[in-house]
Amino acid sequence: MGLFGSKSKKVSAARMITGSVRFPGDKSISHRYAMLAALAEGPSELHYYSASADCASTLACLAKLGVKIERKEDVVTIHGTGLAGLRAPNGNLDAGNSGSTMRMLSGILAGQPFRSVIAGDASLSRRPMKRVVEPLARMGARVTTSEGGLPPITFEGGPDTRLQPIRYELPVASAQVKTAVLFAGLFAEGATEVVEPLRTRDHTEIALEQMGAEIGRHSKTIRVQGRPRLAGQKVYVPGDLSSAAFFIAAGLLVPGSNLVMQNVGLNPTRTAILDVLVSMGGRVKILNVETISGELLGDLHVETSRLAGGEIPAEFVPGLIDELPVLAVLGTQAEQGISFRGAAELRVKESDRLAAVAENLRRMGAEVEEFPDGLRVPGNQKLRAAEIDSHGDHRIAMAFAVAGLVAEGTTIIQHPACVEISFPGFFELLEQVAE
Ligand code: S3P
Repeated sequence: MGLFGSKSKKVSAARMITGSVRFPGDKSISHRYAMLAALAEGPSELHYYSASADCASTLACLAKLGVKIERKEDVVTIHGTGLAGLRAPNGNLDAGNSGSTMRMLSGILAGQPFRSVIAGDASLSRRPMKRVVEPLARMGARVTTSEGGLPPITFEGGPDTRLQPIRYELPVASAQVKTAVLFAGLFAEGATEVVEPLRTRDHTEIALEQMGAEIGRHSKTIRVQGRPRLAGQKVYVPGDLSSAAFFIAAGLLVPGSNLVMQNVGLNPTRTAILDVLVSMGGRVKILNVETISGELLGDLHVETSRLAGGEIPAEFVPGLIDELPVLAVLGTQAEQGISFRGAAELRVKESDRLAAVAENLRRMGAEVEEFPDGLRVPGNQKLRAAEIDSHGDHRIAMAFAVAGLVAEGTTIIQHPACVEISFPGFFELLEQVAE
């Protein structure tokens, strides 16, 4: 009998995690290439395009903007319209659960000579959008949100839409906001600059370069030249390290584990999770590193490890923001536990992830201290099976599936379908490697 029930997602303690696996294409990279390919001249072939529901939301929005898209398994072909070729959508654009779709596409919608409205599901409708609307308005976009800076976002574009380049210092370290401003900069005459307080993922900069934009990077300033001619490309998307993180954690925690993960994205702005785990004693080896489509990727080999744990420095937080829920789970099994501050952003993700992690750890009988901007999880704690409320948040569901692998009894993950937001097939793949 497997570890998982057929109808509800039940997770029992595993004896070991073994085998060799591949993950769906990186979600962050897929969104960016889909959007840029739409603005390019000629077709782009995106291989290993993310299977996630979020990246499907991006494709659906682009299709509504008049972009022809074909999808055969994990190859997406996008017939670019050129910088001036998008069409006014018929009705609202639906970003679904995807903050990336709403925020990054906003940069493109800001530059269009037509009106558009982008909306999302209940969770996305609670997430802050002032952070993108503010710089876009400064660039000359006529853009409004619902009350309190919440979605939907409305762009009153018309034939007179003109964006001016700006130099923008990001108030929050957000790759999504950086991307929105750089994308809007493509429609402005001259050079747009973004200054980051802390380095965030640089997939946008790499994708812009690959598609032929003129882009400069000096320390924490990124500059893009407006009105480029983007050229359609053949792109290979690496496996998603943020999805791999759940399997890395499982491999480190479950006794007797030995797991190989192939073709995982290793962009240095995303690998803080590996640095932290290795510094805590995690046996994670990186093999066969290469660069494809401007992105580093390689294979990971993980073995069960005794983890020291410790404090994650605040400057690491933007680099592993999506991995913090699973790191908190991992902290319960480390010698000194795990603590982190400077992560207030987690309160405005798909759910309030600090509250959701604390609540579910307590359900499993663990001790945890919650701060406005972080958590302190003491180490060497025994977890007992519980009913987990994922709050419809994919990363909470997956983090606590990992907790279930090392808990006593059978853990039940409620609303397990939410994993499709980033990682369809998560439970099936976990079942395949867990014994
Ligand atoms: C993302 C950036 C991060 C991350 C999100 C994806 C991206 O959000 O949490 O899952 O693709 O740029 P912020 O940039 O808003 O922190």
